[in-house]
Amino acid sequence: MCGIVGYIGKREASPILLEGLKRLEYRGYDSAGVAVLADGALKLKKYKGRVTDLARNLNTASLSGSLGISHTRWATHGAVTEANAHPHVSHDGKISLVHNGVIENYLAVKKFLESTGVEFYSETDSEVFCNLIAYHYKKEAEDSPTRFLDSVRRSLRHIDGTYGIAVISTDCPDELVGARKGSPLIVGIGKDEYLLASDVSAIISRTSNVVYLNDGEIVSLKDGELNLLTNDEEILTPEIKQIDWDIAESELGDYEHFMLKEIFEQSGALENAMRGRFSDDKSSAKFGGLNVSAQELRQIDRILLCACGTAWHACLVGEYLIERYARIPVEVEYASEFRYRNAPLDKNTLVIVISQSGETIDTLAALRESKRKGYKTLAINNSVGSTIARESDGGIYQHAGPEIGVASTKAFTSQLHILSMLALYLGRLRDMSFQEGREYVEALKKAPALVTETVKLSGKILEISKKYKDMEDCLFLGRQDMFPIALEGALKLKEISYIHAEGYPAAEMKHGPIALINEKCPVIVIAAQPDIHAKLLSNIQEVKARGAPVIAVTNESNPLPENLVDDQILIPDCHRALLPVIASIPMQLLSYHIANLRGCDVDKPRNLAKSVTVE
Ligand code: AGP
Ligand code: GLU
Repeated sequence: MCGIVGYIGKREASPILLEGLKRLEYRGYDSAGVAVLADGALKLKKYKGRVTDLARNLNTASLSGSLGISHTRWATHGAVTEANAHPHVSHDGKISLVHNGVIENYLAVKKFLESTGVEFYSETDSEVFCNLIAYHYKKEAEDSPTRFLDSVRRSLRHIDGTYGIAVISTDCPDELVGARKGSPLIVGIGKDEYLLASDVSAIISRTSNVVYLNDGEIVSLKDGELNLLTNDEEILTPEIKQIDWDIAESELGDYEHFMLKEIFEQSGALENAMRGRFSDDKSSAKFGGLNVSAQELRQIDRILLCACGTAWHACLVGEYLIERYARIPVEVEYASEFRYRNAPLDKNTLVIVISQSGETIDTLAALRESKRKGYKTLAINNSVGSTIARESDGGIYQHAGPEIGVASTKAFTSQLHILSMLALYLGRLRDMSFQEGREYVEALKKAPALVTETVKLSGKILEISKKYKDMEDCLFLGRQDMFPIALEGALKLKEISYIHAEGYPAAEMKHGPIALINEKCPVIVIAAQPDIHAKLLSNIQEVKARGAPVIAVTNESNPLPENLVDDQILIPDCHRALLPVIASIPMQLLSYHIANLRGCDVDKPRNLAKSVTVE
């Protein structure tokens, strides 16, 4: 959600902080700010709007100093105004803080602080947090070398809610303090410098050595040293992890938008998902980090797939794949519902959460709830070292590379591909024959080439998009595992073009949504399953009879009669297990081109955040 970048070192902090904020822009935000400490004075600049506008309005020379904090805010408490933007400064001018998260008891703390004479300038919970630290700072012994750190630690004990914070004090020009509970925070270890950030992408241009903070941990970066401790003062040994991202992966290159770049990168993402993951006899998949034995997996009689948003659509496809190929009953839950629903689960249930970022708070809470109840948990995740990756019992990394576009594309198809491999693996542990397994493996290996062929449809889809770019409503229809792909198509279009779109099971349409259909409501039908082609044709006839334009996505070998459809997108024929991946690509390209033609900010759609780390 919001972004945090902090710097302490020997260089000028503000250009480094601004670069970090730019790299965090994709997470979604509404205002931004920077505070730098120089010669014992805090210099601050905040802006309601984009980081580029903040940078334009900021004279880096006047913000000279080598210790600083910065923030992109995604407002939860108080309107989007300059006053509410972070960094916040305590009423006595000594403490400055940036915060990601929500302080649930901020009203009570605010009331208490007001009774001590503190005045507030913003409506945020974060300013209360900042003043609480100032309150404790005043109470600590003046000559204590750990006065600042102790005041932060003491404040945390009185805070309910979630936070990732970076804090500086005018009295401590050589110390940067960070802490986390529920919101991500990492330390980047550079040459003669440390960075604090909410996300690896903010610091990857400066270092690939990072320490991930766990919930309840606090870090002091001071005099070239990193001290990590728990809120209860237990000293910890930091575990330094190496990030294997290539910086070029998080840059635009020749593409106009990250979303388009990531659509075109899908073939490589699928290669990476498969690398080293087929068994030696080539009849099954294998996964290094599951931490569940084949014997244990044979005992499982139910799988619960749990996620949010696009990853939830991947779960729905996973249900079809695992039930079809492994014959294990699967249930799919929204993580946000599951965490509070207290659903009765069978003791032999395996819980699998799916998350690109590995930081989505609802998915994390669902994972924790499942663990608390004693279920085995796995995660399919694209962010090595993320909280979900660290807290699950085992899992499968996607290795799709950084996904910067807010609208998920390559992470989604990579999740689908991994679910196909998982279905194969589980199937081969049960009833799938050696021969079937071998054919399945051969089919999966063809995915990258088929994807490369499918993205070539971009030009044709651009032409189709020109015809429909001004629509205000549309319907996406699909059956079986193409129903989640229809849902995903509708979500993509909504997210980046702001067109009202709904995904529906094609045959369910006549039980309600058919009332919406008219010549102004184009219908996108995914009619790519040869076995139910005739059924889909009937659904198309029903739509046509009511005057709606039809855009059909179907197989090259099975085109639809021209009089039945207004536009047709022919995708390559493929194995059934690959169809969800291949059929997703026209959905992505359609929403991309339509949004772009409408002049929308494709990579940074309004109100959306890449990773939702608040409830
Ligand atoms: C995707 O286009 C969305 N922006 C969103 O639905 C996303 O998939 C969801 O927030 C889950 O994120 P995660 O995969 O990082 O957990
Ligand atoms: N709750 C804080 C605010 O509204 C922080 C929001 C965020 O995570 O950006 O300012």
